[in-house]
Amino acid sequence: MENIQVKSLAGDYEILFKKFQIMPEDFIITDTNLVKVLGAPLEDHERKLVFEPGEVSKNIDSVLRIVNRLQALNFSKTQGIIALGGGVIGDMTGFAAGIFKRGIPYVQVPTTLLAMVDSSVGGKTGVNHRGQKNFLGQIHPPERVIIDTDFLKVLPEEEMANGYGEIIKYALLDLEFFEALKKKPSMTAVIAHCLRIKKRYVEADEFDEGARMHLNLGHSYGHIIESRYGVRHGIAVLYGIEIIIKRYGDRELLENFYRLVRRFDIVLDRTFDPAELEAYLFEDKKVRDGHLNLVVPKGIGDIGILSVREKGSDR
Ligand SMILES: NC(=O)c1ccc[n+]([C@@H]2O[C@H](COP(=O)([O-])OP(=O)(O)OC[C@H]3O[C@@H](n4cnc5c(N)ncnc54)[C@H](O)[C@@H]3O)[C@@H](O)[C@H]2O)c1
Repeated sequence: MENIQVKSLAGDYEILFKKFQIMPEDFIITDTNLVKVLGAPLEDHERKLVFEPGEVSKNIDSVLRIVNRLQALNFSKTQGIIALGGGVIGDMTGFAAGIFKRGIPYVQVPTTLLAMVDSSVGGKTGVNHRGQKNFLGQIHPPERVIIDTDFLKVLPEEEMANGYGEIIKYALLDLEFFEALKKKPSMTAVIAHCLRIKKRYVEADEFDEGARMHLNLGHSYGHIIESRYGVRHGIAVLYGIEIIIKRYGDRELLENFYRLVRRFDIVLDRTFDPAELEAYLFEDKKVRDGHLNLVVPKGIGDIGILSVREKGSDR
């Protein structure tokens, strides 16, 4: 697969499709699941920091653990670190790299499908804080991203489904990708296509001031479904997209969406009350002045933003 070059104000970087090999000098941030599934090469590697898996570790204490270790090792401004893991490890390693001595390089080595198609590229880094997701953070793009699809061989199926959710989202954002999926491309080709779409959005709006908002398709309702109803992220995003299309889209788009969902063997068999979700949504941090901006697809690749007003809001 051809490498992808991403333009960034902080310095362009490359997404490489290749086997990842641990070098003795690498300083690796990872989690216990990765140590378990990768075995000796990672287990025996000395220069590493290992966290508990998942969101429980995505906090400022973990970031401090990373920077304290780098300080103890006397890391210089030009020495880089490696994020080996899913989006949690990627986001907090990137944040630690961004604040250590005002910024050192880091390499993203995503090991989940979600991290491969989405979180490893674009430079958004951060951690949760006092119950608020990604509350602390900054844009600190990686020095390089290495996509090694061999990691997916040991990824549990429910984690794959998280990635499928984002892949389906990209297919709704981009007609060429939607058509390409019909030809059953390889997983590497699917990931590369998603990353080319993400690259386009990131380059157009590196600091998330407008155009990049399309990437949030399904995420407003999805976030509530994930946090309040315990549905896994990727599936919650799909329910979020389903609700948006049912409310604002047409039958043809809904059928195309269901076709994509079936294509990835996903079953959406729950229903949510949009009014109830909206009540939660207006408590959310992204709502300003009683107005909520929803990403609404009018057709495949034809995306709009709809400003929805809170019921009872006089603003
Ligand atoms: N920065 C961004 O632009 C961006 C975009 C989307 C999501 N995110 C963030 O990403 C996070 C979610 O990422 P995620 O879904 O990768 O979750 P994750 O990092 O928690 O990984 C999911 C689980 O898979 C395990 N795992 C990872 N790779 C494995 C492998 N190869 N084999 C077996 N197990 C493996 C992990 O240990 C973990 O238990 C969230 O915190 C979210 O906020 C960030």
